[in-house]
Amino acid sequence: MNSFNGFKGRVDADAPLADLTWFKLGGPARWLVSPGSRQELRDALRRCADHDLIVKVLGGGANVLIRDDGVDGVVVRLDDPVFSDIRFDGPCVDAGGGADLMKLTHACARRGLSGLEPLAGIPGSVGGALRQNAGGRDAEFGSFVEHVVVIDKTGCVEQLTRDELHFGYRSSSIGDRIVLAARLRLTLADPEITLPTYRRYWSEKRRSQPMSERSAGCVFKNPPGRSAGALIDAAGLKGFAVGGASVSNRHANFIVTNPGATSADVLAVIDHVRNVVGRESGVDLELEIEVW
Ligand code: EPU
Repeated sequence: MNSFNGFKGRVDADAPLADLTWFKLGGPARWLVSPGSRQELRDALRRCADHDLIVKVLGGGANVLIRDDGVDGVVVRLDDPVFSDIRFDGPCVDAGGGADLMKLTHACARRGLSGLEPLAGIPGSVGGALRQNAGGRDAEFGSFVEHVVVIDKTGCVEQLTRDELHFGYRSSSIGDRIVLAARLRLTLADPEITLPTYRRYWSEKRRSQPMSERSAGCVFKNPPGRSAGALIDAAGLKGFAVGGASVSNRHANFIVTNPGATSADVLAVIDHVRNVVGRESGVDLELEIEVW
């Protein structure tokens, strides 16, 4: 029996996922579902619960590595415009969970809304960025949240204020709930200041990171007080390759891939890096990317 018989939204069986991720790697999803409304999303989640199907939510695909055998479950994408609205209201912005983070950070800088400039060039969806508390040295996305509207796997919708949420380094208490929307509070400023600041962060990112190559950003979290990139670099691992995947020569915390690479190549590089860094510096690197 087909778990999605009669489902009103878009659903594809054995759907390729690779092109939906920044690594461009990995096998298909048993089901790929793109609901066209909250009601359809609720219906999809209920069907998953009824049929005991694993559910994964794919945001911008910027921080995920999908294994070569794919996902034996349901991958949900909030790519319908109904989930990606961005609205400005004085110093606040309301953004859908499926909205594009790069579009949001750029739009804010252009309007003279200050706060998100250090997130310039960070790819992904608003929901994914909140769940992982995306950010860099100078700012983290979670610190701008007023409230978040989430839906849990039983289809229950809830609004959580910032006091009810916890954001840590590349982590949050959102867990496996899906972000439908978020309200952020920024600071009203002058676009003649926010836009050049945004551009400066962009150029710094382009200078220090391999942005024109296929990667999923930083692979490992920075251990407390240390830099994963510096540790991997010091271990002499820049350029280390397995098949079509290698440690970037520009920034050692990035793994870049060539066409023809497999997810197994990336996983082999990850294992080797972890082992060598563990041996050389006694640090057990923790993954920042998710492996599905
Ligand atoms: N370094 C090296 N060799 C390298 C890379 C870095 O020696 O190959 C050194 C740098 O010279 C610097 C230190 O390590 O002294 C830190 O490097 P960097 O300034 O590039 O920052 P990072 O800690 O590696 C973090 C975030 C990035 C974010 C930047 C800028 C993590 C894991 N990474 O990188 O986020 O863009 O700060 O704010 O927290 C991501 O999350 O995907 C990501 C790329």
